[in-house]
Amino acid sequence: MRRLLAVSLTSALAVSLAVLPLAASAAPSQRPAAARATAAGGTGSLAVGTGGAVASMDPGASQAGIDVLEHGGNAIDAAVATASALGVTIPFVAGPGGGGFMVIYLAKTHQVVTIDGRETCPAACTTSMFIDPGTGQPYGYDYASDQPLATGVPSMVATWAKAVSLYGRQSLGADLQPAINVADRGFRVNADFQQLTASDLPELQAYPASRWLLTPAGNPLPVGYLLRNPDLARTYRLLARYGPSFLYNGPLGQAIVQADDHPVVTPGNNIVALPGIMTMNDLRAYTARVQAPTHVRYRSLDIYSMGPPSSSGSTVGEALNILNGYNLSAEPRATALFHYLEASRLSYADRNAYVGDPRYVSVPLSGLLSPEFAATRRCLIGDQALTSPVAPGDPNPPYGSCPGQSGSAAASASPEGSHTNNIVTADKWGNIVAYTNTINFFGGSGETVPGYGFLLNNEMTDFDFAPPAQGAYDPNLPAGGKQPRSSMGPVIAFRNGKPVFSVGAAGGSTIITTILQIILNHVDFGMSLPAALAAPRVSQTNSATSLAEPDFYNSALAKQLTSEFGEQFSEATGPIVPLDYYPGDATALQVLSGGRLESIAEPVRLGGGSALVVNPSP
Ligand code: DON
Repeated sequence: MRRLLAVSLTSALAVSLAVLPLAASAAPSQRPAAARATAAGGTGSLAVGTGGAVASMDPGASQAGIDVLEHGGNAIDAAVATASALGVTIPFVAGPGGGGFMVIYLAKTHQVVTIDGRETCPAACTTSMFIDPGTGQPYGYDYASDQPLATGVPSMVATWAKAVSLYGRQSLGADLQPAINVADRGFRVNADFQQLTASDLPELQAYPASRWLLTPAGNPLPVGYLLRNPDLARTYRLLARYGPSFLYNGPLGQAIVQADDHPVVTPGNNIVALPGIMTMNDLRAYTARVQAPTHVRYRSLDIYSMGPPSSSGSTVGEALNILNGYNLSAEPRATALFHYLEASRLSYADRNAYVGDPRYVSVPLSGLLSPEFAATRRCLIGDQALTSPVAPGDPNPPYGSCPGQSGSAAASASPEGSHTNNIVTADKWGNIVAYTNTINFFGGSGETVPGYGFLLNNEMTDFDFAPPAQGAYDPNLPAGGKQPRSSMGPVIAFRNGKPVFSVGAAGGSTIITTILQIILNHVDFGMSLPAALAAPRVSQTNSATSLAEPDFYNSALAKQLTSEFGEQFSEATGPIVPLDYYPGDATALQVLSGGRLESIAEPVRLGGGSALVVNPSP
């Protein structure tokens, strides 16, 4: 069995990266990229072919990535093109006002690297910034999330610039050109756009700049409306011309700081109350960092993902380590799902207790990813559901044989929504990028930077507002310069040193369970990757009930899990249906035989995503 080696390198950036055996490089396709991707069915959720692939939430965004692949760009360029175009076509989940995490497979050097492009809290942030001074109690989560105070230093552009300069084949400007074209020419509003607008209407109405851009008549735009965004086209042109310093040390930064700290609001609005605390120094201090991926071994696979401040790599990894102790494929499906739910429950307890920004708190990452630690958690799983919140384990060695449930309940975690997006790209050289990015809530804080055409994030409410008990340790409290813990973190999986698939998802805390469930569906339950992605989902995050999509909630399996194993479920739903049915949508990519690629997007959730390839083939 070939093993991937985790080797410490001293690169120009002095980071350690995971390096795979060189002999196992993916075979690059040498075929010319000729056919237009739209021939594959531009709005379809599945495409197979060669020459490169892109999957995202939106046809226009996926096409932007394909355009770049067809004109000499690689998977890294395509990821930036797709993300920047998504900032035009679905500005509620993407764009220059947010941040994200990129997991990259570099075929030539056979390395997995990641880029931490997470927002930081301004220097003036404190542990009590989300405590209401009038009551001494934490603000409500939704209330705080609607405030400019919740905006962190936008990190998307720094991430794009770092990715392109280190690993791309084109300039940032060339990668932004498809998005500029879409913003100039416009695109047709569809039903999803309408629903996303509806989900954030009061917040958008609170700012004249957002209202002007997205809801000029006070209602969601009609389906079929041609929406142009000349301000964002100009923003991207200026970034193309002057580079990221136009934001991090220039006029765009000044406009962001002004908008955050001195928001212009609609007269009579009763939403915006807490201005931001950002300065130009906060922007100047921002750096997107290259860091080593997380790694676990699951069945015959090597699974690479994102390390802290993302909690995805450690939590997916710990759960898989726990599940390595069961032969899920041989178990009755209800038993296997019971084990999945309990592994998630226990891993989440450890995530909440230990994961935060590693530059501010000590994160016991190697313990969380240790099979020996996982064994101490697995042994707590009996034949009935544990009662949440379960207490965290101790990931620091030496590990007891089976320490039992003890200690206080897990630290609280902020509730999270169902937003965000994941992009996967691959190119003819064998490179793969999985990129989860967001402005947090649908519509972020709701505030558009006047004159620049994009929404600001509200990512700082991913911090815990207060510790679980007075004086209790909490790794995820706010501080100046600190990054809030994230659930975003896509996966690239290898077998025998060769990439086999990638998957990532939207959906706040359910991102982690969505990725886990898709891996189990595919690897253990034998579903094709598209079927694994489409299957009904259920998410256990150390909560009293597991959040279930309606198709899972109403299934015979759910009833069996309740009657036989004591599992409890709540149904995902909300005022905007079917948008609120789904915890979050996913995208994936599979490397098939002969260098063919299968690009996979959601067939149904959020109206379906868009999967394209450069050269479609059967
Ligand atoms: O970083 C995270 O985990 C979240 N901010 C991702 C955004 C999301 O899906 C949650 N939505 N509220």
